[in-house]
Amino acid sequence: MDDVDAAFPDTSTLERVLDLAANAPSAGNAQPWRWLVGRRGVQLAADWQRRRGDSRSDRGDVLLSCGAVLHHCVVALAAAGWASRVHRFPEAEVLASISLDPRPAGAGSLELAEAISRRRADRRPFRGTLPAGTIEQLVVRAARFDVEVSVVPTARWARLGEAEYALRYDDDGAQQLDEEAAMLVLATGTDNDLARLRAGEALSDLTLAAAALGLVTCPLTEPLRDPRSRLALACEVFDGAAYPQALIRLGQQSVGEPLPPPGRRPVAETTTFALG
Ligand SMILES: Cc1cc2nc3c(=O)[nH]c(=O)nc-3n(C[C@H](O)[C@H](O)[C@H](O)COP(=O)(O)O)c2cc1C
Repeated sequence: MDDVDAAFPDTSTLERVLDLAANAPSAGNAQPWRWLVGRRGVQLAADWQRRRGDSRSDRGDVLLSCGAVLHHCVVALAAAGWASRVHRFPEAEVLASISLDPRPAGAGSLELAEAISRRRADRRPFRGTLPAGTIEQLVVRAARFDVEVSVVPTARWARLGEAEYALRYDDDGAQQLDEEAAMLVLATGTDNDLARLRAGEALSDLTLAAAALGLVTCPLTEPLRDPRSRLALACEVFDGAAYPQALIRLGQQSVGEPLPPPGRRPVAETTTFALG
């Protein structure tokens, strides 16, 4: 066995890691990603055929979802004893390449990895107030991804139905359903593909950190599809200096039993192993 092989996880470890990473949230559960595992590293690409439409928002959803699976993968690798060095957009058609070094898992990574299978996009009403300091903690976490987090003023969003949320800058008189949740907005200083990938990584980190704290979340981009609402939110919350990329509804607990996980694509379908 040469040095390259000695410093790289075996195929079954990588299959387990990618299987765990596949639990990442994605818009419409589209899972629009592809993995290429080589002898020295792992590459992530977007599967554009799985985007839901041709709009700017549909493209953004793919990049956010790929950012989320990238972060899930880095967490799963860390828990398996492999530290990642991530190079974003290293070449055309590649969103990220990950190279790996063996390193014992830290407590933080183990905690996040353990939360992966418990996190769900929970669209039910939330109950109870958040523990003091929760939002500050998430703001600090997001900054590590160059992502700003702020709270959407309560008067500016509404839960309109079973799984329907809206921003209320263009108020049509819609009634807020009974709800005790905070709505967070994740925003970036630029509005390009790299920023959207990073916002997806932050979205993953925040939802896993919340799950590790026993809190419930639901990522949302649907309410940002209306460009006027998105701009109004940017102006009100960030003084026009940052671009909203995603929302996360955050609460203490949801009404009802734990949600069953929606289906995921098997690793064999998303991954090419090129180890020869
Ligand atoms: C970028 C992104 C955008 C999303 N937008 C919405 C949304 O607008 N409304 C919604 O109900 N869920 C939204 N979700 C949640 C997904 O529907 C959910 O992650 C997916 O169905 C898988 O379910 P799970 O997260 O419980 O595993 C979004 C998720 C991501 C990553």
